[in-house]
Amino acid sequence: MEYITLNNGLKMPIVGTGTNTYGKVSHEYNGALTNEIPELISALELGYRSIDGAIMYRNEELVGRVLAESNVPREELFITTKVPANEEYISSKEATRAAIDNSLKNFQTDYLDLLLIHFPIEDKVQLKNTWEVFEEYYEAGKLKAIGVSNFGKNHLDVLKEFANVKPAVNQIQVNLKEPNKDLLAILLEEGITPVAWGPMKAEIHQKEALDEMGKAYNKSGAQVLLRYQIQRGVVVIPKSHNCKNQASNIDLFDFELSAEDVEKINNL
Ligand SMILES: NC(=O)c1ccc[n+]([C@@H]2O[C@H](COP(=O)([O-])OP(=O)(O)OC[C@H]3O[C@@H](n4cnc5c(N)ncnc54)[C@H](OP(=O)(O)O)[C@@H]3O)[C@@H](O)[C@H]2O)c1
Repeated sequence: MEYITLNNGLKMPIVGTGTNTYGKVSHEYNGALTNEIPELISALELGYRSIDGAIMYRNEELVGRVLAESNVPREELFITTKVPANEEYISSKEATRAAIDNSLKNFQTDYLDLLLIHFPIEDKVQLKNTWEVFEEYYEAGKLKAIGVSNFGKNHLDVLKEFANVKPAVNQIQVNLKEPNKDLLAILLEEGITPVAWGPMKAEIHQKEALDEMGKAYNKSGAQVLLRYQIQRGVVVIPKSHNCKNQASNIDLFDFELSAEDVEKINNL
């Protein structure tokens, strides 16, 4: 595994696994919870150490139990979760503190590696209050890094007005369908690590071109796309319910795309 260093010095695995449909009937986001996550067990066996969770996924407790029952030492894991931008969690500082305390309990840990605000909070006072609680837990060592998700430049600018701790990451959709080029450039420029959700989404013609390009590297088109992402400093959190795909999505460190191929992908 390779790591990226966040703006506060914390090292984050550059590839992690998403969890938004793990432990759910029919692998549906809104499906009822099952009581097991074989995919998470196989992900850990394959070497995944970064786990991307969220309160909205409803499966924190189950994910936490699987992690606790694994033989992976806590210090090897990088656990991310996200506080929803809903009244229930952000209407007061107490509500936000209760949410974080509950996530710590769900993951059976006394610290989280990364906590994000899941979606922009449009009300400035609520955003300030929420961020202040994040900073409070960060200063207390209960959060090793804090950041945001789905924030645009406008939201980052508002946060900047009062933040004492700069967000370490912004988790956004970045893929060939949604290149998000301007925001990506701003994040890289400002030292806020971009984490890509949906990192492999591409149009059919783009997938065909990536598959073709992969032949020279003996890699699949999906691996070429993930490699493209990490080679430009974007953390990826692909999610798969298929053990073969999970293995393939982490097998990215024995090849490098040429500058020419990177340029071709830029123009797909
Ligand atoms: N912050 C946010 O608002 C937000 C929003 C969405 C997602 N997320 C996070 O980001 C994670 C990843 O995003 P995502 O789940 O939307 O999309 P994704 O990881 O880009 O794609 C998942 C889909 O791709 C397939 N897949 C995975 N590996 C493959 C491979 N090697 N070859 C071919 N197909 C492959 C999977 O099918 P199989 O199961 O059949 O492999 C699955 O259908 C989520 O799990 C979640 O943790 C965050």
